[in-house]
Amino acid sequence: MRIYCEKDYDAMSRRAASVIAGEVIHNPACLLGLATGSTPEGAYKYLVDWYKQGLISFKDVLSVNLDEYVGLAPSHDQSYRYFMQSNLFDHVDIDPANTRVPDGLTRDAAAFCADYDAYIRGCGYVDLQLLGIGRNGHIGFNEPGDHFVRETHVVDLTESTIDANARFFASRNDVPKQAISMGMGAIMGAKRILLCASGEDKADAICRSVSGPITPGCPGSILQLHPNVVLVADEAALSKLTASGFKV
Ligand code: GLP
Repeated sequence: MRIYCEKDYDAMSRRAASVIAGEVIHNPACLLGLATGSTPEGAYKYLVDWYKQGLISFKDVLSVNLDEYVGLAPSHDQSYRYFMQSNLFDHVDIDPANTRVPDGLTRDAAAFCADYDAYIRGCGYVDLQLLGIGRNGHIGFNEPGDHFVRETHVVDLTESTIDANARFFASRNDVPKQAISMGMGAIMGAKRILLCASGEDKADAICRSVSGPITPGCPGSILQLHPNVVLVADEAALSKLTASGFKV
């Protein structure tokens, strides 16, 4: 695992954006695995900026998103489709037909999930998968449990994730209780993974994911088995790892 330790959120965002831009420049028709949440927002701002400066183009890029809340329409301002449109897709030259976000309103989740995985497999898997991490170590919406789930699936969100995401909704009751998430098969099948983290509240999840036991109790720990992971984090998010003596 290559680790970039950056000073703060802005430096973390710029570094993460440069890794994504590098992929797009190197492989203009790549399949990007994209993530939502507050962590990648800054990186998306840099990418939009660099697109506007003519430095990068998303004309031939394909994308698949990690997850979506069950029950939220794409027009809902907390849906992950809405997030992607407003933070990236609406501001760059990506072809809307080439962007995929799980459908939170699907009536046949099993068929939808199977199709989502088939699409990713058919593309030869993701070239670069962007990941944030939950405070409990979740990646995508793969919550801690007693086993890793391979396929795209419907997840019951944990109370801690509902608490963490309540800040985006009018009230905690408005946070959806389920989501559709890519499973570990698609995530681990990616040729390269870019894990991003910022802030002290991620320090424990990062420490456990990078140097703890590999266990479904901390879903991010599975990344230790992937041969090509880049971790871009700020000093606060790396603080517990560095305090434990891990060299970054
Ligand atoms: C959310 C998303 C994840 C994200 C994580 C951290 O619930 N499903 O994809 O990485 O939690 O979010 P944030 O970046 O806002 O801290």
